[in-house]
Amino acid sequence: MNKLKLAILASGRGSNFEAILTNIQQKKLDAAVQIVISNNSKAGVLELARKNDIPAMHLSHRQFDSPEQFDEKLLSVLKECGANFIVLAGYMKLLSAKIIGAYRNRILNIHPALLPSFGGKGMYGIHVHEAVLAYGCKVTGVTVHLVDEKFDHGAPIIQRCVPVLSDDTPQTLAQRVLGVEHQVFTEALRLFAENRIEIRGRSAFIHQ
Ligand code: GRF
Repeated sequence: MNKLKLAILASGRGSNFEAILTNIQQKKLDAAVQIVISNNSKAGVLELARKNDIPAMHLSHRQFDSPEQFDEKLLSVLKECGANFIVLAGYMKLLSAKIIGAYRNRILNIHPALLPSFGGKGMYGIHVHEAVLAYGCKVTGVTVHLVDEKFDHGAPIIQRCVPVLSDDTPQTLAQRVLGVEHQVFTEALRLFAENRIEIRGRSAFIHQ
């Protein structure tokens, strides 16, 4: 694949975007961020992008009469800015089959648990960590995975364990998991940048 030209889609504060950007700036990842897109006009991630002179765009289904019109706009924005890879960094909306098809095996999402556990409907943000603690898990983690048509389902690229401590609250656990997210998202992107990922069936194999 050519050099990674990323479109970041995010809905919130953008700490994962910030970590990726820092790693690019420090030459730990050979990639460029072409654009940051958020469905939430007030998202911190847009502010972060502007501060770093990266094009920042508010794009929401609410601005369009139909999902198809939204998709058309998103695809044209992605094309215009030259993005060849999509990073979902806390994006709270589902991408349509059309977008996923157009960027097949070139869309990554990060989930703050070890999928397929603690994924799917309602499993986002602090709810994930509450559920992990309520179950009494001794370990949780991070999954960076390809995005396919099913929610939280595409092939994992990297999964990393994070211990659950006996005095954890959902907040302390979220914090520990987030620290690992900031490392592994870049690690996963680097594998793509170095052309080391091969998809076979529903599994991703990493070439050494
Ligand atoms: C992260 O915990 C990520 O795993 C989930 O959404 C959160 C985004 O956090 N998908 P941030 O906006 O990157 O700080």
